[in-house]
Amino acid sequence: MKILVTGGAGYIGSHTVVELLNEGHEVVVVDNLVNSSKESLKRVEKITGKKVPFFELDIRDRQALENVVKGAGFDCCIHFAGLKAVGESVSLPWEYYDNNIGGTLVLLDVLRKNGCKNIIFSSSATVYGNPKTVPITEDCPKGECTNPYGETKSVLERIMTDMYNADKEWNVVLLRYFNPIGAHKSGLIGENPNGIPNNLMPYITQVAVGKREELGVFGDDYNTPDGTGVRDYIHVVDLAKGHVKALKAVENNCGLEIFNLGTGVGYSVLDVVKAFEKANNIKIPYSIKPRRPGDIDVSYSDPSKANRVLGWKAENNLEDMCRDSWNWQKNNPNGFEE
Ligand code: NAD
Ligand code: WQD
Repeated sequence: MKILVTGGAGYIGSHTVVELLNEGHEVVVVDNLVNSSKESLKRVEKITGKKVPFFELDIRDRQALENVVKGAGFDCCIHFAGLKAVGESVSLPWEYYDNNIGGTLVLLDVLRKNGCKNIIFSSSATVYGNPKTVPITEDCPKGECTNPYGETKSVLERIMTDMYNADKEWNVVLLRYFNPIGAHKSGLIGENPNGIPNNLMPYITQVAVGKREELGVFGDDYNTPDGTGVRDYIHVVDLAKGHVKALKAVENNCGLEIFNLGTGVGYSVLDVVKAFEKANNIKIPYSIKPRRPGDIDVSYSDPSKANRVLGWKAENNLEDMCRDSWNWQKNNPNGFEE
């Protein structure tokens, strides 16, 4: 299939482009590089031995987007482009709504006007809010979003659902990612956060590489076995492969489908620290800090629908994720900068 990948220079996008090319799909990437570097796509070319056509543009720029989409004959769009920092979204709500919702509205319109009514969307477990029960199935009601970032995902799910209900020619796959970590086994691509990492694994790897002194563990009084927050960490390559499977569903005219992409296993912050230390034989100094506002006790998926319907299952375990995260960080201490 011929696929338009928005945000394809980013962390999950670049890993997905590798898997798409490996499966023989044709890929075109658009990205404004607001949170990524062109170098990631050069690395993708190195891994796959294939060229990646790339257009540097903002998806809110209708004319620029149309120039890429018109006449190109895309079969499907995989839509990663968006801003994703929870804390930043609290201080810059307008920017998040404009970029994520405004950008997606332009994209959907350009796609449908050019004969492509197939989309796979990067949603998030954040739409479940604080779940009443775990594991979380796709039927669990969506929850209260505590930040504008989460709200954009929830609203965009709604917009695409309404568009599908109004026009059954669409195929819409909403993928709710749990906590992606890890990196490609080559160590050539990986997560490259700007400034101080917000998320757990990049913080740990920056402590390991000597860029940060110690990890702050945000709270040890949660309702979990060791008191630290429990999440469903998933290897980014497994996540990427989930998109390839979702494409098959689109090809078979699946209509509207929602899938959790997670492992179904929850690990605490301290479990991750211990697993990282064991996998890589590196000590991670840490201290307990106050809770981070908006954090919840426990979140992990029931991924059985993706297994049943898509034939997808996460294959990497926490040790693999810790090993591959470190392999990327130690080979690229400054990310994609030379
Ligand atoms: P990322 O920041 O690495 O990738 C997003 C890419 O989109 C970046 O390359 C960025 O430059 C680009 N982009 C942003 N706004 C754009 C715009 N207006 N026009 C063109 N390009 C634009 O983030 P990621 O971790 O790879 O996440 C990809 C998607 O998955 C995002 O939509 C994110 O919200 C979603 N998601 C991520 C996680 C996670 O923990 N990483 C979890 C759930 C969902
Ligand atoms: C994991 C655990 C923290 C950093 C976020 C978004 C979510 C989704 C995935 C996009 C928590 C603890 C963290 C640190 C810590 N993204 N922690 N010290 O919050 O589950 O999910 O990323 O959709 O929307 O909210 O991930 O990696 O930030 O935190 O103790 O320095 O690690 O408190 O328990 P989270 P995370």
